Amino acid sequence: MILFDPAYDSYDPAIRLNGGVPIHIKLKPPHFGIDWEEVKSKITSRTRMIMINTPHNPTGAILSESDLKKLEQIAIDNDLIVLSDEVYERIIFDNQEHQSVLKFPKLAAQSVAVFSFGKTFHATGWKVGYAVAPENLTKEIRKTHQFITFSVNTPVQLALAEYLTNPDHYLNLKDFYQRKRDLFLNQIKGSSFQPLPCRGSYFQLLSYEGCLTKMKRLWPNG
Ligand SMILES: Cc1ncc(COP(=O)(O)O)c(C=O)c1O
Repeated sequence: MILFDPAYDSYDPAIRLNGGVPIHIKLKPPHFGIDWEEVKSKITSRTRMIMINTPHNPTGAILSESDLKKLEQIAIDNDLIVLSDEVYERIIFDNQEHQSVLKFPKLAAQSVAVFSFGKTFHATGWKVGYAVAPENLTKEIRKTHQFITFSVNTPVQLALAEYLTNPDHYLNLKDFYQRKRDLFLNQIKGSSFQPLPCRGSYFQLLSYEGCLTKMKRLWPNG
C-alpha cells in the first residue's frame, strides 16, 4: 500500500496490522505535492492500494484537479483501490475547491472516501464519520466494520443528525478557520519562523530555517 509522508500517525500501523506492506513516498516541500512519476515507479504487481489525504494533515496542502486526474489514470492502469481521507474537506482556504475522489466517476468506482463529523462539527474525539464507496467495496468493509467498531454512541449520532439538518453549521466552516489562520499568520509576522503555504486543514507549518540563521549569527562558534 502506497502512502505519503509526512502522514497522519495511524496510517502506517493500520496497514501493518492488516498484514499490508507500507510503501512510503515523500511529499515534496515547501508545497508538499505528489510526484506522480515517482508513484508510478514504486508500483509493482503486489501493489493493491494508494492512500491520499486532502486537505492534508500535517502540511495543509491540497490536491488539485490535475492531481486527481493523474491518480485516476494510475488507479485504472494498475487496478488499484484508492483510500481517500477527506476528513478536512470543509476546512479549505483562499477560495480553493476541495477535490474529492467522488467527483471523478472512474476514480470513484475504485475508491473509498472517508469523512469525519469530528472535524466538520468541531467534535474531534466523538469518532463518528462515514465512508463512501461502490457496493463491491462496502460489502467487504461491512464484513469487518461490525467487529472493529461494534456500535457507535447513539446520543452522539442523534445529535449529529440534528446538527446536519442546518447547512449553516458546516457550509461556512472554511471562513471560520481561514479567519483563525490569517490571525495566526498576522501574529507570527516578524518572528524568525517562516510560514509555509497552507491551503486547508487545522495545520500551519512553520520553517525554522530563519531561527537557525539567527542562532548562527549569535553563536558563530556553535
Ligand atoms: C488526516 C486525519 N484522518 C483521520 C483523522 C481521524 O478523525 P476522527 O478522530 O474525527 O475520526 C484525523 C484526526 O486527527 C486526521 O487528522
